Amino acid sequence: MTDINERLDDLRQRGLYRRMRLVSGPQGPRVLLDGKPVLLLCSNNYLGLADHPRVREAAAEAAMRYGVGAGASRLVSGNMTVHRRLESELSEFKRSQACLLFGSGYLANAGIVSTLAREGDVVLSDSLNHASIVDGCRLAGARTFVYEHCDLDHLEYGLREAAGRAALIVTDGVFSMDGDVAPLPEIVELARRYDTRVMVDEAHGTGALGPGGRGAVAAAGLEDEVDVVVGTLGKSLGSYGAFVCCDADMAEYLVNTARTLIFSTALPPPAVAGALAALDLLRSSPERVDKLQRNARVLRDSLRDEGLDCGDSETQIVPLVVGGASAAMAACEKALKKGVFAQAIRPPTVPEGTSRLRLAVMASHTSAELRQAAKVLAAVVPAQPQVPREPRPVEAAPRVYDGLAEAA
Ligand SMILES: Cc1ncc(COP(=O)(O)O)c(C=O)c1O
Repeated sequence: MTDINERLDDLRQRGLYRRMRLVSGPQGPRVLLDGKPVLLLCSNNYLGLADHPRVREAAAEAAMRYGVGAGASRLVSGNMTVHRRLESELSEFKRSQACLLFGSGYLANAGIVSTLAREGDVVLSDSLNHASIVDGCRLAGARTFVYEHCDLDHLEYGLREAAGRAALIVTDGVFSMDGDVAPLPEIVELARRYDTRVMVDEAHGTGALGPGGRGAVAAAGLEDEVDVVVGTLGKSLGSYGAFVCCDADMAEYLVNTARTLIFSTALPPPAVAGALAALDLLRSSPERVDKLQRNARVLRDSLRDEGLDCGDSETQIVPLVVGGASAAMAACEKALKKGVFAQAIRPPTVPEGTSRLRLAVMASHTSAELRQAAKVLAAVVPAQPQVPREPRPVEAAPRVYDGLAEAA
């Protein structure tokens, strides 16, 4: 048995050691980080709602009215009126027949993928999908085919290989570490052709893209075509938890089979009420979404003007790929010294050799703050590696295999 300290040393040597930084106060555009004032450029509080007075008040009132905890899972005694209300508002917002809350986006993805893909089935999963989807694939009794990122030829190759056993294509709508958008119309078309379900994770699309911030699926006009849409409450909606939008039969099936819903306590009422207030604000003032998109454009343009490569980002998530893990950490620390907090993201969150600063824009930033941040980042990010844009030939990529998905 290896000593835990040896394992920690190993992580340090590989530049993969992690520690938690400490933020004082709410997730505003400027925070005290480990006691030092910085511009916050890596929070998913995209619309600035986590610290909005009405959201805070709603959560506080719910704590007084319903108590702090739900006390049990939804299927025992934890299903409260406030949960039902949020589900109903979310399904109206997302224009779905049904909506079901989950404890978090992680729990939603892990639970849904693992119950939709059963033994003998094949799940087709984008190579840059979030870890919670990867873990859902690992939990599923099915086999997983990991297709090259957004590579439709490779996806189709996997569907052909699956020979009628494809049960699910699953993709992030907006990719969490790259800020690019999945080719949803083409994926849906392939799914139809090969008689397969589609699941889209809108963790970073909800509140950021599409009409009224309804997400990447709505932006592509596919609300009636995607079988399962997952969203989180912890990012644009400023709270904690997650939800899935689907048809009534699917919701009933998930209530009966999704282990991460069945065996976990229902969301705390203050978190639910906070999300309800945030949703209300999003619907009544969609200009927040426009501001977020404008700010994202300002940051991307300013970075490019400074000669930096933002990859294929089209959204509020902007990667600055550095390459090695230690180099990314060094750039992060240098930026911090100059008052900009953009956390370095390293494997296994991103593939080996693509460690990066992952910038996240908020609607509450000012253009001047973003332009200034771009100057700081240009001074600290070393020469960026050329990331190959050409997809690998289909035959060179992995075939259908058992059990574990390759992407970590
Ligand atoms: C694409 C994606 N899906 C799911 C999740 C997990 O959501 P949550 O933080 O609510 O567990 C995240 C969060 O980081 C994410 O980026």
